[in-house]
Amino acid sequence: MATRAQHHVRHAEAPEDGVVIRVRGLENRFGEQVVHQDLDLDVKRGEILGVVGGSGTGKSVLMRSIIGLQQPAAGAIEVFGENTVGGEESADVRKRWGVLFQNGALFSTLSVAENVQVPIREYYPKIDDQLLDEIATYKIVASGLPPESSSKYPSELSGGMRKRAGLARALALDPELIFLDEPTAGLDPIGAAAFDNLIKTLRDLLGLTVFIITHDLDTLYAICDRVAVLADKKVVAVGTIEELVALDHPWIQEYFNGPRGRAAEDSAERAEEESKRALSPQEATKLTGSDEGA
Ligand SMILES: Nc1ncnc2c1ncn2[C@@H]1O[C@H](COP(=O)(O)OP(=O)(O)O)[C@@H](O)[C@H]1O
Ligand SMILES: [Mg+2]
Repeated sequence: MATRAQHHVRHAEAPEDGVVIRVRGLENRFGEQVVHQDLDLDVKRGEILGVVGGSGTGKSVLMRSIIGLQQPAAGAIEVFGENTVGGEESADVRKRWGVLFQNGALFSTLSVAENVQVPIREYYPKIDDQLLDEIATYKIVASGLPPESSSKYPSELSGGMRKRAGLARALALDPELIFLDEPTAGLDPIGAAAFDNLIKTLRDLLGLTVFIITHDLDTLYAICDRVAVLADKKVVAVGTIEELVALDHPWIQEYFNGPRGRAAEDSAERAEEESKRALSPQEATKLTGSDEGA
């Protein structure tokens, strides 16, 4: 249970080491199945951290643990210096992150704009409707959707547009940290590259910290500052791709030095170039509000 007493520590993150997420000794199990054991991870302020690992290695469970949705069997987790284990964090700290879940998880009976407005209404119940509409439009445009998509329902959107709508909702409360669970899964390569570039642009503009789970080697090469590898129930390595490739771990070698890894390395630069159009500077200013009222 979150207690009022915790509120006084909400800004207690350690700025001196710039660690936004700190996971120590994490253990997760489902019945007999041990998913994580002795898992440690640090995510640094302002970085794009890629999280990779085979299917079922517990990437989504790790993310859900960090944001307090999955009660671990053991371990300590802090986000912005606050304990999130079992959802113990305060609403104030929860407001500082945004999440794009693996399936997009939009409310199907709500329009895109209404989806984006959900978290805003939750935290600012007295906000007036016009301001709410304006904020939603900024987020939608900043996420690379045309403004007229605001009134569309999730079923009327392509996969790529749904991801962008989910991103717009994740950005609704001006978070400092975003969690993205396989955001480019199911997108065509051009759409995926555009989404990657959008994430990088938003990070550069807003100074976001990004925790991104991905299967997409192109994403790792194009935008991730560091990559954490989940294997053997823990984070077996974390570093730049260059650092990881130098390691002797069989899964890491197979992953980065297999044929798909090489192809991704080759296409990384080209993909980045092609996706530069993801967000125009004019669109980007909408998010920071620097053009507001102009
Ligand atoms: N709520 C749950 N109940 C039981 N088992 C679960 C639950 N969530 C995840 N698991 C199991 O935990 C393991 C890791 O799942 P997950 O984190 O979704 O993997 P991935 O790395 O593919 O995201 C899988 O074996 C999955 O079946
Ligand atoms: Mg998953």
